[in-house]
Amino acid sequence: MKLKIKLPLLFLLMLLILMFSIGLYLKFVFAVYSPIRTTLLDSRYIALLLPIFAIAGCIFLILIIYIYRSIEKPIRLLNTRLEEVNVVHPLPPLASRSNDEIGELYKHFNKMEHKLQLAHREQTDMIAAIAHDLKTPLTSINGFTELLATHGDLPDTEKQEYYELIQKKSAYMVELINDLSSFTKQKLELESMVAGPVRATELFEDIAFEYEVELAGLDNELTCRHSFTDSIWLRVNEPMIRRVFGNLFSNAVRYGGKNKLNVYMTGYLREHHAYFQIEDNGIGVPDKDLSSLFLKFFTVDKSRQIQKGGLGLGLASCKSIIEHHGGEIMAFPSEYGGLGIRFSLPLASLH
Ligand SMILES: Nc1ncnc2c1ncn2[C@@H]1O[C@H](COP(=O)(O)OP(=O)(O)OP(=O)(O)O)[C@@H](O)[C@H]1O
Ligand SMILES: [Mg+2]
Repeated sequence: MKLKIKLPLLFLLMLLILMFSIGLYLKFVFAVYSPIRTTLLDSRYIALLLPIFAIAGCIFLILIIYIYRSIEKPIRLLNTRLEEVNVVHPLPPLASRSNDEIGELYKHFNKMEHKLQLAHREQTDMIAAIAHDLKTPLTSINGFTELLATHGDLPDTEKQEYYELIQKKSAYMVELINDLSSFTKQKLELESMVAGPVRATELFEDIAFEYEVELAGLDNELTCRHSFTDSIWLRVNEPMIRRVFGNLFSNAVRYGGKNKLNVYMTGYLREHHAYFQIEDNGIGVPDKDLSSLFLKFFTVDKSRQIQKGGLGLGLASCKSIIEHHGGEIMAFPSEYGGLGIRFSLPLASLH
């Protein structure tokens, strides 16, 4: 039975019980104290009860209208909306003027609908990006194999060249798929992330040492400076934060566009947060693209991407790691000429 029938029936029953009890009670009072010796059907007795019944009837009506307007109607609207949820062509958000549980339910429903739309958009973008990035090497592989199949008389050296190209393109595809699966895996890891206390100086100096050696090996140079003291602690999941640094350094080397690249790593403290900055003196990123760098699958220049590889997931994953730690990440044009990335991590209270 529907709520709009069930509730009035329940109220009607309550009203009848109430009236019957009042009637019985008054009958008892009259029998003991009043000179009016009456039966339940006496007209004087009924005339006395009528105003009480009229008031109870009015209260009953008001309650029914209130319940209909503030409970039954919003629930019905929500039900209809649940049947019509459409993530492709979203409907305007549900509006509720009340601040009660129903208002909250509407707010949460709107949030859920928005999340569904985002998840759907992310999914379609992801499929489009994967399809795009896999199509290019696959088209080349297809072209080379066709050439080898139809031109059996090609000289051996040329054949060898095509085999090598096919091998290179397929290795690139494997790399793309690996990137994608580690990105999805990381999303799950973040949900169950465990953070522990780490000294800011130790983290900074460890990372600096590791990448100084690595960058020097690639004929690049890393310059580091920080103003942390030994009493500054961070609460982080260290392997994940190391992954952020790894992404940033590998980007600088990959996209810096210089043979001898200078990378700068800075650490400082500001308002209960430790800040880390990685900058380079490479070609940088146009100002208009700076805010899009952290979007999934965003790459500055698709043609440049083909030689360098990369799905455009590195910075998106850095952002989700930093935000899971309660920090923020942003990109800026570096004073050294290239790209600068700054992120913050909240300080740990060790009490
Ligand atoms: N230091 C940098 N200098 C110039 N361009 C950069 C730099 N860092 C990133 N970019 C640009 O930002 C884009 C996004 O970087 P991101 O790390 O998110 O993805 P990716 O490196 O292309 O792929 P992935 O990290 O998933 O392998 C890169 O494709 C590149 O065009
Ligand atoms: Mg990257």
